[in-house]
Amino acid sequence: MTAQLNARGDVAVLVPAAGSGVRLGPGAPKALRLLAGEPLLVHAVRRVAAAPSVRMIVVAAPAAEVDAVRALLEPVAPVVVVAGGAERQDSVAAMLAAVPAGVEIVLVHDAARALTPPELFESVAAAVRGGQPAVIPVLPVVDTIKEVGPGEVVLGTVDRSVLRSVQTPQGFRHDVLAAAHRAGLDSHTDDAGMVEKSGTPVTCVPGSDLALKITRPLDLVIAEALLRVA
Ligand code: CTP
Ligand code: MG
Repeated sequence: MTAQLNARGDVAVLVPAAGSGVRLGPGAPKALRLLAGEPLLVHAVRRVAAAPSVRMIVVAAPAAEVDAVRALLEPVAPVVVVAGGAERQDSVAAMLAAVPAGVEIVLVHDAARALTPPELFESVAAAVRGGQPAVIPVLPVVDTIKEVGPGEVVLGTVDRSVLRSVQTPQGFRHDVLAAAHRAGLDSHTDDAGMVEKSGTPVTCVPGSDLALKITRPLDLVIAEALLRVA
């Protein structure tokens, strides 16, 4: 069952890819949409597999696409494919169940961040290996951020210097992420959110412009342009 990459690696990467991609508009599930002729998931998994610390990759596919995704990834890398759940968090829980206890570091990485370079997996994993229980890649916020109230009336300007935009892969000690999943019933937009709730410190490392999340149609255009220069 355990499809291994590097037997000496200490990292499992979970790739949630079971979303439908509503914001991208009508079409196939987002992870299967094409970017420069290949599905986003193929771009993503190829880059994960190129990170030397990675021992195993688990992908959560839409339930109806599990066999198709297995076949799609077969020539790309050894991957365990499971059926995803209704919410992203359910998909992560299903993948976590496939990670053996001996793997000490778990990274969770959106298939939608298809151009994330292998180096970012290594830097997040290195920070966890160095003793941090939970690590997230971040970028500074570039826009001015306003808080607004009813009627779109501005209430105030938020101090941008203390804000960060958060990406994936997010890295955790295996036991920390597993405990957060056992405890966490609330819904969170990222995995670190669950871990924060449990009181565990979460620390930041520098993110990457290439780790942008493909969410809306314009992001596909930007990603195609990035592929030509990166
Ligand atoms: N995801 C998942 N299972 C879900 C929902 C999301 O595995 N039930 C995955 C998506 O496939 C994606 C990642 O989580 O790789 C981040 O989610 P998002 O960018 O929101 O993707 P979608 O949910 O597919 O997009 P949308 O919210 O526009 O429908
Ligand atoms: Mg979503």
